[in-house]
Amino acid sequence: MSTPSSDSLPSPALLAEAMKRAVKRADAALDAVLPQPDGLHGRVAEAMRYAVFAGGKRLRPFLVLEGAALFGADPDGAARAAAAIEALHTYSLVHDDLPAMDDDDLRRGRPTTHRQFNEATAILAGDALLTIAFEILSDPATHPSAEVRCKLITRLAQAGGAQGMIGGQMIDMLSAERAYGQDDIVLLQRMKTGALFEMSAEAGPILAQAGADDVERLHSFAVDFGLLFQITDDLLDVLGDAATAGKAVGKDQEQGKQTLVGSLGLEGARREARRLAERASQTLSLYGAKADALRALPFELLDRTS
Ligand code: IPE
Ligand code: IPE
Ligand code: MG
Ligand code: MG
Ligand code: MG
Repeated sequence: MSTPSSDSLPSPALLAEAMKRAVKRADAALDAVLPQPDGLHGRVAEAMRYAVFAGGKRLRPFLVLEGAALFGADPDGAARAAAAIEALHTYSLVHDDLPAMDDDDLRRGRPTTHRQFNEATAILAGDALLTIAFEILSDPATHPSAEVRCKLITRLAQAGGAQGMIGGQMIDMLSAERAYGQDDIVLLQRMKTGALFEMSAEAGPILAQAGADDVERLHSFAVDFGLLFQITDDLLDVLGDAATAGKAVGKDQEQGKQTLVGSLGLEGARREARRLAERASQTLSLYGAKADALRALPFELLDRTS
């Protein structure tokens, strides 16, 4: 993996341990909140669980949990917030893969939800994963303060909505028929992918009722992180293989998607991702060792293969 140039951050093995812990916590919280496949409508719960428990990297939960630990928020409430965001993220993947969108057959290493079930079930399971995210956040078990819960709900709605992820998906879907400039592509990435990472990173300080400066710092970190994450997703589409990535590759060019890999070239995109990783890591340096796992993550992603 690429190591940070300026300081000594945790080894890949230590970061991997921290990520494993986040996956465990998030998965336990998801298992507790997702409906069981009972009753006449049990199939929708089955499809929700199929999509969620398919081995995602749980990067958004990792940001929530590490951010919460950094500011001393209650870990159980943070795990619920992480579960809410992961449910919404999983819905976005289920719908992104539908024939009307990217038309993909493989996700997280197995058949996409509409291939495993059918399109109607995948649409409904996605809708239910989106909706349950807000139910989880609105529950006092997530945080005793209604004001904090409301803030999380507002931020998730903004990040997931027309001015965030959905807006980004719209720009992405129009990508084949319009010529975008570099700024347009950065906006597309920031909306479709960055917005949810920004919300995930802010959730920790919001849950801990930390200061506005702290929320802003975590937000800035995630702006850079989100951009570099989508650049590496686009690099993966060009350079990766489906067996390791767990999803089809080579689709962006085939579907006329415009990405920074297209406009900057492979080397230019790699350089830009590294620049963003350096800056993201630097943004959190004032928190000392407590922020090390967060600061190491952007570098870890630079060479990712899944
Ligand atoms: C894939 O996200 C979709 C994008 C935003 C590019 P992830 O790469 O985080 O997917 P999972 O959750 O690990 O499957
Ligand atoms: C999807 O972007 C982003 C969202 C689901 C919001 P991509 O279409 O590039 O994601 P992958 O490559 O299918 O995971
Ligand atoms: Mg897409
Ligand atoms: Mg896609
Ligand atoms: Mg992609």
